[in-house]
Order: sequence, then C-alpha cells, then structure tokens
Amino acid sequence: MDQLWDVLKAAETKGVAVGHFNISDWVLLKAVFESANELNVPVIVGASEGERTFLGVAQIAALVKSLREEHSFPIFLNADHTHSLDSAITATKAGFDSIVFDLSALPFEENIKQTKQAVESLKSINPAILVEGEIGDIGTGSEIHASVPDRSKDLTTPQEARQFVESTRVDILAPAVGNMHGMLQTMVQGDARKRLDIDRIHEIKSASRSLLTLHGGSGTEDNDLRKAITAGINIIHINTELRVAWRQGLEAALGQKPHEVVPYKLLPAVEESVKQVVLARLRLFNQQQRRSQ
Ligand code: G3H
Ligand code: ZN
Repeated sequence: MDQLWDVLKAAETKGVAVGHFNISDWVLLKAVFESANELNVPVIVGASEGERTFLGVAQIAALVKSLREEHSFPIFLNADHTHSLDSAITATKAGFDSIVFDLSALPFEENIKQTKQAVESLKSINPAILVEGEIGDIGTGSEIHASVPDRSKDLTTPQEARQFVESTRVDILAPAVGNMHGMLQTMVQGDARKRLDIDRIHEIKSASRSLLTLHGGSGTEDNDLRKAITAGINIIHINTELRVAWRQGLEAALGQKPHEVVPYKLLPAVEESVKQVVLARLRLFNQQQRRSQ
C-alpha cells in the first residue's frame, strides 16, 4: 500500500487534490470512508487536538487502521493543528501518517525554530511521517462565526514561504492565501462564499516548490478551489461543512422520529447528510485540473 507521500506526489502529477476531512465521531469517519470508497479516491481523515481528546488518540488510530487494512484502501490519518511537541509525539507514536505542527501564532522566526526542531524529533520516531508547517493567520475554529476580519493584507509572501520550507525542512506548507477557518451564517445559507488569491498561490508554489495545503476550505467558491488546485494546492481541508451537515442530519432525524431512542435507527440519516457533502467535495477535488507548471 502506498504511503501518504506517494499518494500526494501522484495527486500533484495528476493535477488533483487529496481531500482532508475532520472527524470527531464514528458517524463522520464512516461517512468520509464510504464516500472515498464509493469514488475510489484516496482520502485523509483529520483530528485536531480537541477532536483527538474527545475520540482518544489510540482509538482513532485503530479505527482508521482497521478501515485501511480491511478494505486495502488508501485512507490516511492526520494530527491536525497540533500546537505542542508533546502532543505531536503522542500522535506520531500512535501511528498517525502526518502532523500539522501549527505554531503560526508565534513570531515567524520562533515558528521556524520550533518547527525545525519538531521535524527532526518526529522523523527520528518515524522517518516516514509527514510534517506540515503553517505560516500566516487564517483564524481559528471550524464554527459559525459572526464576522470575518479582512485578512487580505496578511497573506503569506513567496519569500516567507521559501524561507520557511528551506529552514524547517517541512514536507508540506500551509499558507494564508485568503482562506480562513469556519463559516459565516451567510456562507451556510449559500449567500456568500470565501474567495482565494490564486496568483499568490502560484507565486508561493514557484518560490517554495513544496506540497501545499489549503486550510479553511468550507464555504469556498468552487471555481476558486479548482483554480487553487491548478495553481499548486495538493490537500484541501474541510471541517465546518461536515459539522453543519452532521447537525442538520441529526435535527432532521429527530424531527422525523420524535420518539426513537435507537441510535442505529437515527444515525444513518446523519451519515447520509455528511456523505452528500464529502462526495461533492471529493468529486470537485478529483476533477483533473491542468497544471500550468
Ligand atoms: O484544519 C481544518 C480545516 O482547515 C477546516 O476548515 O472548517 O473552514 O473547513 P473549515
Ligand atoms: Zn485548518
């Protein structure tokens, strides 16, 4: 079975992106796996520190491993937004395929220094683990926000991207290119969409020559996502859209069966609701895009 690095390189060559979906329960994991299996495309499951605390680090690793082995299927596990080396080491030892080591809130030089140390330390535990570093501000929280600050002035520069990748030796870079975590209510309704700076993605790709992740994918204009893949994005993270679908599916199931108490009679509707989102996003990410480089 290919390792995550091989899958990402193959995606880069094909001009597609690998979908990354956050999960915090078995219903979400099942929906992500079933969707990817149906479309026969590789997929990454992400669990942030909060999601890992709820699920259990060893337990989520065992669940994903069991799906991968039983179905011989390329499903990978990422320790998303990991803010401490201790927590990154725990996930590495548990068998995660990649770590997003996120010190983007620190000053740039300090981020470089600590990320470099983390890359060395995590690869000494598992040389095959992929480490992603993050620079720039894309906000926090895959939730519904009341408003968004204007982030257009805080985009990652190509120079920063190159310096960060060369100094830290990260395998993957997560830049700020107009993206942000979470959604506005208007985005949930479909009245507003996030927009990306495609030229900036092109420039960052050329300067860094690195694999790139787009965080904060929920609510982004479909055509911007297509163009972002063409410009060099290799992984796209989606979380809030799944959480919204999870809640809507649950509310609908409870509304239709107000007296039902059997979880396995209620939860398939939640799984189906989440699946529709994952299927749509995976179809988009896996449409072949023409790379301009
Ligand atoms: O790491 C998780 C993601 O970047 C998700 O962002 O909630 O805006 O989809 P999102
Ligand atoms: Zn993120």
